[in-house]
Amino acid sequence: MTTVLITGANRGIGLEFARQYSSDGWSVIATARDPADTDELKALPVRVEQLDMADLDAVADFAAKVDALDLLVANAGTNDPMNADTIAEAKRWARMMVVNSIAPFMLARGLLPNAAATGAKLIAITSGMGSLADTTGGWIPYRASKAALNMAWRSLALEARAQGVTAAMLSPGWVKTRMGGAGAELTPEESVTAMRGLIERLTIGQTGKFLRRDGSEIPW
Ligand SMILES: NC(=O)c1ccc[n+]([C@@H]2O[C@H](COP(=O)([O-])OP(=O)(O)OC[C@H]3O[C@@H](n4cnc5c(N)ncnc54)[C@H](OP(=O)(O)O)[C@@H]3O)[C@@H](O)[C@H]2O)c1
Repeated sequence: MTTVLITGANRGIGLEFARQYSSDGWSVIATARDPADTDELKALPVRVEQLDMADLDAVADFAAKVDALDLLVANAGTNDPMNADTIAEAKRWARMMVVNSIAPFMLARGLLPNAAATGAKLIAITSGMGSLADTTGGWIPYRASKAALNMAWRSLALEARAQGVTAAMLSPGWVKTRMGGAGAELTPEESVTAMRGLIERLTIGQTGKFLRRDGSEIPW
């Protein structure tokens, strides 16, 4: 059976990934920061595991809980704080760098031996806002965290490639979730359906790429 590990699977895009992969018969390991408060996720035929991406010790230990792995969807992320005008916001930005950039990288690095055994795919859910070519401005902490994620994942892809592992960064588009807001363009179902199709088609030749959900490349 094909196995996928999805982080931040209790709501939004992560929950939709869990819904779609489990309904297609995949074995789904779904992580949530607070498993007690995940009724929608627990209603699915998935294995729920507690994981707070702000806890780097827990992230480092997590690989031991996973045997065979065909796909990692490193989805958990935060857009708090919006700005860094105060020291309190700067401290939340530091935590955001752990959750959005460092923890996904450490999780993927820990899982690399499992991934190499099966020729798995390692997918980071990033954002077009992490592109240095995007000059729309604002949301500086979030942009910086996703640009850092991209750099780390791209560098990991170079190492992973030699082991037959494909690693790519996908932008989901603007999606109606708590983060994206009600005015966003896409439903989680539309975004995840497109990303799943892309993940399925991804080849090792595309490893290290920063991609829109239609497979086109986003400038760094
Ligand atoms: N929605 C968009 O338009 C959009 C656009 C571009 C990129 N993205 C990216 O897509 C991914 C999913 O976002 P979304 O739109 O589904 O947002 P969301 O509805 O706000 O969901 C975010 C998920 O991340 C989890 N999370 C946050 N901090 C965490 C932590 N410290 N440890 C573990 N889990 C944590 C949340 O868990 P809790 O419930 O415990 O907080 C939740 O499951 C994120 O990486 C985001 O940056 C979204």
